[in-house]
Amino acid sequence: MIRPLRPGDCEWCNRLLYDQYPGDPSDLSGQPVESTASGYVCEIDNVPVGFVTWVQHEQLGHYVDNLYVESRWQRQGIGALLLQKMQQEFDELALHVHKAKAVVFYEKNGFQIVCNAGTQNKHRMEWRKTKSGPAN
Ligand SMILES: CC(C)(COP(=O)(O)OP(=O)(O)OC[C@H]1O[C@@H](n2cnc3c(N)ncnc32)[C@H](O)[C@@H]1OP(=O)(O)O)[C@@H](O)C(=O)NCCC(=O)NCCS
Repeated sequence: MIRPLRPGDCEWCNRLLYDQYPGDPSDLSGQPVESTASGYVCEIDNVPVGFVTWVQHEQLGHYVDNLYVESRWQRQGIGALLLQKMQQEFDELALHVHKAKAVVFYEKNGFQIVCNAGTQNKHRMEWRKTKSGPAN
């Protein structure tokens, strides 16, 4: 089940965020999640297993600043489900990616690299809704 992010999710989101980068927080692709953040949570049997947050960015529009899935639940379509929720809500999305595997994930979900953001593995990616449907 996908539901809106609530203020009480904040602690769990940040634990998941930091769990993904043990010992190297400089690799973090997003900012810590604040209780006022907007986004969605995926729950399985009432337990949260992944989340996405977004901000309204002055230049980049609707900007996905965090997307994380618990390790044991990865590669089962949960990241795509959270992204699809965003793609239903908005006509365009932007984000930055730091990992090659995540670039492949976003490309599979209709995003394209629009520029290399200066460092070797950091790319800006964008997605725009087409007339044929919400997903690509
Ligand atoms: C990136 C992430 C959100 C994808 O969520 P997910 O639920 O695992 O993704 P889905 O199941 O919808 O999509 C799976 C596809 O994503 C890519 N992918 C996801 N995890 C991967 C991994 N550990 N290794 C390689 N490819 C991976 C693959 O292309 C995969 O397709 P495949 O299984 O057919 O090879 C998740 O792996 C994650 O939380 N990663 C750590 C945090 C992160 O990198 N977030 C993105 C910040 S830019």
